Amino acid sequence: MNSNHAIGLLDSGVGGLTVVKEIMKQLPQEKIVYYGDTARMPYGSRPQAQVRGFASQIINFLITQEVKLIIVACNTATAAGLPYYQQEFSLPIIGVIEPGVRAALRQTKRKKIGVIGTEGTIASKAYEESIKRHDPTVQVYSQACPLFVLIVENGLVDSPEALCVAEHYLRPLKEAGVDVLILGCTHYPLMSHVISKVMGPDVKLISSAAETALEAKNILSKGNMLRQAAPETVKHRFFVSGNPGAFNAIGESLLQCSLSTYQLLLP
Ligand code: DGL
Repeated sequence: MNSNHAIGLLDSGVGGLTVVKEIMKQLPQEKIVYYGDTARMPYGSRPQAQVRGFASQIINFLITQEVKLIIVACNTATAAGLPYYQQEFSLPIIGVIEPGVRAALRQTKRKKIGVIGTEGTIASKAYEESIKRHDPTVQVYSQACPLFVLIVENGLVDSPEALCVAEHYLRPLKEAGVDVLILGCTHYPLMSHVISKVMGPDVKLISSAAETALEAKNILSKGNMLRQAAPETVKHRFFVSGNPGAFNAIGESLLQCSLSTYQLLLP
């Protein structure tokens, strides 16, 4: 492992690109290797053991691509087994749940935090337990929003149906009076304008992307592993298990750069 190696990220699809965007902003000199498991997406409705297996398979692949740090840029895969990946593999691996919790706790004034995520993430209670560990007096209101991932992956975020679905899922959280809402799925920042429209301007939306990128930066800096070359020399690599077309379209509009994504099925 050396400082010139890349940062590896994984997700079930385009969601982890919201974390990539922050890495590009905070660590522009770092090379990125990304794997989006679009052929097996969504992860949210799958059993935890299966998600853990998929994530481990991808981590093994990323390691063959010379990475120095891995970000599990998927809440469902983080909830399914971050401690397991950290124990199984010998390089630093971080997830997206703890960073999101830290950011939310800094923002809440009423101590009423809403959490939205996939069925797997919400059923795992990973957010609730982490928030309570930090501050047992905070009230947590959780809601699974399984259709959101499909809306994002299919480029439907600006459709009237997206607004309708968001109103349906978010009503209980609005009624509970949360002042902070954790977007507990890396896909959700891609539809934050819809979520914000439903929740109103007084509810602060929290994406873990910025805090996760900061954590990556701190780990690399402490380990003397920050890449020293100029950002212009950076070359990123993107892989998907499904068709790269839709992934490229959403990714290019989010990252404002052209992507050439390789299709690669893992054995
Ligand atoms: N971006 C993944 C997450 O953060 C989405 C999971 C899915 O594919 O359902 O949980």
